[in-house]
Amino acid sequence: MQRAKRLGLIPPYLFGEIAKMKAAAIAEGRDLIDLGIGDPDQPTPANIIDKLTEFSHDPSTHRYDESNMGPTEFLADVAKWFQGRFGVTLDPTCEILELIGSKEGLAHAAWAFIDPGDVALVPDPAYTVVKVNTLLAGGTPYEFPLLAENNFLPDLFAIPGDVVKKAKILYLNYPNNPTGAVATREFFQQAVNFARETGVLILHDCAYSEAGFDDYKAPSIMEIEGAKDVAIEFHSLSKTFNMTGWRIGFAVGSPEALRALNTIKGNVDSKAFAAIALTAGWALNHARNDDAMALLKRRRDVLVDGLNRLGWNLKKPEATFYVWLPVPPGYTSATFAKALLEKADVLSIPGLGYGPHGDGYVRMSLTVSGDKNGEMLEEAVRRIEKNVELKW
Ligand SMILES: Cc1ncc(COP(=O)(O)O)c(C=O)c1O
Repeated sequence: MQRAKRLGLIPPYLFGEIAKMKAAAIAEGRDLIDLGIGDPDQPTPANIIDKLTEFSHDPSTHRYDESNMGPTEFLADVAKWFQGRFGVTLDPTCEILELIGSKEGLAHAAWAFIDPGDVALVPDPAYTVVKVNTLLAGGTPYEFPLLAENNFLPDLFAIPGDVVKKAKILYLNYPNNPTGAVATREFFQQAVNFARETGVLILHDCAYSEAGFDDYKAPSIMEIEGAKDVAIEFHSLSKTFNMTGWRIGFAVGSPEALRALNTIKGNVDSKAFAAIALTAGWALNHARNDDAMALLKRRRDVLVDGLNRLGWNLKKPEATFYVWLPVPPGYTSATFAKALLEKADVLSIPGLGYGPHGDGYVRMSLTVSGDKNGEMLEEAVRRIEKNVELKW
């Protein structure tokens, strides 16, 4: 058996490595506090599960979904939600495309828009899927930095002209994984201006749009006039309603771009289970995530306040499940994550895994299984204080 050479382009899957370290620690019988993968630990709300039961009893959902962009009711539900949530009108016949989770859409987008030799503009740090699929499609990722001094928003107009000429797509993601940063409408306006001037298509990953704390409501890039001509935006039920295992999301925006993405999809997958899509559409307009967000907020406050007592100077993230932590002097992201794991049994993710500018940070996720009210985050802070050398 000979593997395709393109597999050699893939750096080791970040979470795969973390999973191995975690498995080894558990095999040694250690009591880990897992602040690794951002996967909601709370169950999907019961009313959503009830709806799935109802829809899944309809035998018409058991067959291939032969619709073009997704079941009509699902597309209508998304349009209704989008109007209410963002004040943006979407045409459900051509401006919404069902996805099997936003990861699937982000990955297939590279195949729809990148030819060998093309450049994809990729944030550094970023969710790893966008860079890897650019490489698999034969493209060249150009990583532009997200810097703390600029609130982790990029300076798009600083990207060199010769790079921009070869670029076909620009990946953005706000609220951002891994930094927890949020974008302003002014930034989205700049991004749309950039796309208009350069012809680059924006792929905006908005998977954490509903993971805002307090009164924070993330904007959609689609709120910017003309965005539908130059952008598509990816949404997901995963993080909103603790539905990561369900695999359902959608993309909205440029009909032409969605058609291109759907051409790849139509030749690769056969859509989500229709009962799940119908349930997702219902959930957007009827379910709530206040309880899950209240627990995450409690955890965020315990973790950030605790770390700040130990010498950090962190701002509380306004959205996402992540605390993006600069490593103390004397450490790299890898050595600090290792120290946390080996000395304090606290699992975090080294920032380097998200791109070169992630070095100097580790990511801690608030989705801690077993935590009821922040007590495991309190314990994590205690363990760090007691066991990990911090020289400020
Ligand atoms: C930034 C970002 N985008 C997209 C996804 C994928 O989410 P899903 O495929 O479950 O919709 C994730 C998952 O962790 C993520 O962090």
